[in-house]
Amino acid sequence: MTALVPSDRSYDPSDRWFQDAVFYEVLVRGFYDANDDGTGDLAGLRAKLDYLQWLGIDCLWLLPFCPSPMRDGGYDVSDFFNVHPDYGTLGELVGLLEDAHRRGIRVIADLVINHTSDQHPWFAESRSSRTNPKADWYVWNDDDQRWPEARVVFTDVERSNWTWDDVRQQYYWHRFYSHQPDLNYDNPEVVEAMFEVVRFWLDLGFDGFRLDAVPYLYQRDGTSGEHLPETHAFIRRLRKQLDAEYSGRVLLAEANGWPADVADYFGDGDECHLCFHFPLMPRLFMAVRREHRFPITEILSQTPELPDGCQWAIFLRNHDELTLEQVTDEERDYLFAEYAKDPRMKRHMGIGRRLAPLLDGDRRLAELLYSLLLSLPGSPVLYYGDELLMGDNIYLGDRDSVRTPMQWSPDRNGGFSRADFAQLYLPPLMDPVYGFGAVNVEAQLRNPGSFLHWIRGMLVQRRSLPVLGIGNIELLDCPNPAVLAFVRWGEVADVSLAAPDGLGPPAVMPTVAAVPVEPADVARTVPAEHGAPGAARTRFQAVLCVHNLSRFAQPVQLDLAGWAGRRPVEVLGRVSFAPIGPEPYSLALGPHGYLWFDLVEPAWAESDPS
Ligand code: GLC
Repeated sequence: MTALVPSDRSYDPSDRWFQDAVFYEVLVRGFYDANDDGTGDLAGLRAKLDYLQWLGIDCLWLLPFCPSPMRDGGYDVSDFFNVHPDYGTLGELVGLLEDAHRRGIRVIADLVINHTSDQHPWFAESRSSRTNPKADWYVWNDDDQRWPEARVVFTDVERSNWTWDDVRQQYYWHRFYSHQPDLNYDNPEVVEAMFEVVRFWLDLGFDGFRLDAVPYLYQRDGTSGEHLPETHAFIRRLRKQLDAEYSGRVLLAEANGWPADVADYFGDGDECHLCFHFPLMPRLFMAVRREHRFPITEILSQTPELPDGCQWAIFLRNHDELTLEQVTDEERDYLFAEYAKDPRMKRHMGIGRRLAPLLDGDRRLAELLYSLLLSLPGSPVLYYGDELLMGDNIYLGDRDSVRTPMQWSPDRNGGFSRADFAQLYLPPLMDPVYGFGAVNVEAQLRNPGSFLHWIRGMLVQRRSLPVLGIGNIELLDCPNPAVLAFVRWGEVADVSLAAPDGLGPPAVMPTVAAVPVEPADVARTVPAEHGAPGAARTRFQAVLCVHNLSRFAQPVQLDLAGWAGRRPVEVLGRVSFAPIGPEPYSLALGPHGYLWFDLVEPAWAESDPS
């Protein structure tokens, strides 16, 4: 049994909302263009909050939105205290935050903490001489030989982490593109400046940050320059400030590393609240291609127990390439061979494709992967457009392949913008399989059998099973290696399912007349400051999740002896199955099938068909 979350937690809905939240990663630039200039904006995102609320997400993660020359999707910030003029104003940002909060949706920002753009005034000043007041705000050196142990992240583009600067006549250090010089965290003024940035956005109302590229803040001789003790000390300071002045806000670490290294970013519960579980992601893709559970069970067994009050953030795809840094060379070759058959699909050390094309458009496989994402330990992070099974454009440069405009309707520009096509920040997809004519929100809203409705239904189910967020996991033995089965169990808060007036997701999208309302609709848990009456009582919950990783139907015999006496009630249909006895429990699964069962005490079962 692998316990990924602590068993003795006292669940506090106001502070630990992130432990069973569903996150939605959104590219402001690509979501919706409210002013018809070809670029998505904050007003556009605000206009689509109805949709996001209806979908049932709990927290938005905004990709970088500060002023930037946009040579790395905004991860090259040139002013930390403003909004990129293409996206709107600070006032519009505040409006978005208020509106989101009113709907019970929290919002975190991407904090690009490790580096700036070379266009940032701090860098302009720093490079201007060796004696100016910001001379030591970046990392300078006379030669490019220092810290040879530090790897180059974008190996396909950069040859070294040092770049010569003609102005200052020295080299500067950068872990990413050469136009992204690293800040010097050994300089207390830099630390203070970044704390000011943090306070600025928290004061505006953000609910926390994704800490971009956080392992690289410091450099030390003889080390790889990743995961250094100094970095952890910095995060602890940051966390202290949050706890003291901004309780309930969260830090999410983007630390791409092995589980044991990444778990250090939780500290003793005194660093980040959440960390992305990078190694799990490629192993999900590997397991379904190999039709074998081992890649998943192996990485779960290597995943350390979480400190109290922490959570993993798990994901299938995001705005970057499907990174293959955390796999062996052999596994990487295998994944490239399976998922990047055309060399143009490769990006940096990974694959620049979206979920649906990676799966050859196989809906059953997509459902299986989402079922895993929503039931394995961790808070799921969805990537905009993947709820539609949107496609990608591998002919676009770098990671723009997966950053094309959201597809709202079959209208001009996919309903994303009324600007001229040539003015759009990137072309929307127009191919017959994934183009906006075939894949769009409007069509999927109208069709109750669409993927969009399916995933929304799954989020509703997940909300009714809080143990999927915070429970322990027991991996079950079963002889069939194509089946992954586990029980999520633990004490959960017995919160009232009724949301206060006017909060909760709207039953129907206001723009679409005939969206059926599922009887199983469960209202969202609304953050405490918005008035949710979370009851303090807890109850025991156990959910059995069974996944068939194979393309073919599979039998399975599960060792459920530890749960004998309970009755599995299938979650989606509330159909009661035969009670569990001491002998192996037999089930059959269709191709790529998945089943979730509430394991209920006999008295709770609704009917007995056996
Ligand atoms: C992170 C971001 C990526 C960006 C890099 C440099 O890894 O996810 O998009 O290019 O940091 O800022």
